[in-house]
Amino acid sequence: MIGTSLVAALRGGGHEVLRLVRRRPSAPDERGWDPPAGRIDGGALDGVDAVVNLCGAGVGDKRWSDARKQVLLDSRTVPTEVLAAAVAEGGVPALVNASAIGYYGDTGDEVVDENSPSGTGFLAGLCRQWEAATAAAEGRARVVRLRTGLVIGPSGGLFGKIRPLFEFFLGGRLGDGRQYMPWISLDDAVAAIRFVVEHDVSGPVNVTSPSPVTNAEFTRTVGHALHRPTPWVAPAFALKAVLGDMAEEGLLAGQRAVPRVLEQRGFRFLHPALGAAVAAAVER
Ligand SMILES: NC(=O)c1ccc[n+]([C@@H]2O[C@H](COP(=O)([O-])OP(=O)(O)OC[C@H]3O[C@@H](n4cnc5c(N)ncnc54)[C@H](OP(=O)(O)O)[C@@H]3O)[C@@H](O)[C@H]2O)c1
Repeated sequence: MIGTSLVAALRGGGHEVLRLVRRRPSAPDERGWDPPAGRIDGGALDGVDAVVNLCGAGVGDKRWSDARKQVLLDSRTVPTEVLAAAVAEGGVPALVNASAIGYYGDTGDEVVDENSPSGTGFLAGLCRQWEAATAAAEGRARVVRLRTGLVIGPSGGLFGKIRPLFEFFLGGRLGDGRQYMPWISLDDAVAAIRFVVEHDVSGPVNVTSPSPVTNAEFTRTVGHALHRPTPWVAPAFALKAVLGDMAEEGLLAGQRAVPRVLEQRGFRFLHPALGAAVAAAVER
């Protein structure tokens, strides 16, 4: 979801982009790699100014069994360790690595920024291990950890799963709707990644809009933008019964996260308000 748009945006901005693929490379801009084997095609990172790593199996794709949790973890930590080592060995100046806003755990109404501590639960632990997997590159390269919120784009990601529910008149609040949802438009997420590639930023960066909303407000705004009523309430007990930990941590927990670093560094948001972000996603 993010990578495809990012490649287009970087190329549009005059950058040359190479893509690492796990299958056999079949285009001039592709280079092969095999993360579990720790292999990257020879010379793939020669002369590269920055590596952007957006790897990870979909957090909302399947119920979180123990086996699935291992896949979610390994598909993030293993590629990150391989890339961090390659960046350090190859003298690549920057590693921009995905992480997620789940790093902070469930923070209720408290405003959280990049200085806030990590929380409890599976997602927070996953994010800590994911971020720790960049260790080999720390001190050798500029390392950015992208703590991204819910990305609002035309398709893909969790929003890509939520949107059809609203379109089929099934949109509704989750639990009591008071949990905060840190979100960002796809255009802004891509622009923010390009911004940290091009500027001397390092450390954690909240990739979220300046205006996180509660789930109740999110539901109303998305319903309004899609011209659909949102009368339903998915009770917390039912979500937990059907989705287990994923409901508890992914849907019923929240973070009132703000993009302190991006704002301090002068990043300008194209879609600071949720309604405009949803409208932009729907228009595509
Ligand atoms: N979208 C969001 O709302 C959101 C929010 C917070 C954080 N993030 C994080 O941002 C990153 C990009 O998100 P996205 O929505 O663009 O995800 P996406 O569309 O699902 O793309 C994930 C990428 O990870 C690769 N991948 C999956 N398993 C892998 C493995 N075992 N080894 C190596 N690569 C693997 C996939 O490669 P193939 O194409 O080869 O399958 C794909 O290119 C992810 O790490 C995600 O957790 C996203």
